[in-house]
Amino acid sequence: MKDEKEKMKLLVLNGPNLNMLGTRQRDVYGTKSYEELAAEIMNWAQESGFEATVRQSNHEGVLIDLIQGAQIMGYDALLINPGAYAHYSYAISDALRCIALPKAEVHLSDIDNREDFRKLSVTAAACDKIIVGLGFEGYRQAIVYLSKIAREH
Ligand code: DQA
Repeated sequence: MKDEKEKMKLLVLNGPNLNMLGTRQRDVYGTKSYEELAAEIMNWAQESGFEATVRQSNHEGVLIDLIQGAQIMGYDALLINPGAYAHYSYAISDALRCIALPKAEVHLSDIDNREDFRKLSVTAAACDKIIVGLGFEGYRQAIVYLSKIAREH
């Protein structure tokens, strides 16, 4: 358990196509850019006592390597938006199960009320919490949640 004053480390992973925020399907994902999202995440993390690293990759293996390394690198919690990998990547799901850290999954859009293939998240099953449909705000809520459970972890 970490002391109140001790900074915790948060790893935030964003999967494929999230780098296209701001131009991609603006009716679904909004008009703000990925850089704006990353900046907001950094601020919210700091407010919750975390020092955050924010990464984005379009490659499944890169995401898996980062997940596997999270504990070794000394992270206290993991936040992931796996993008479309959420719906079918058993490899990412298994990687999440490899690490004993508090984990939350976020989706900007409401995946329960879109195409049928988005309704299932195989990666969320390996996380402690899933937040969907709140846009950037979902990341803020996930960070607050993770800061509470990581402090006791
Ligand atoms: C997403 C939802 C996924 O279904 C989609 O493939 C994405 C973004 C979201 O944040 O709403 O790339 O993860």
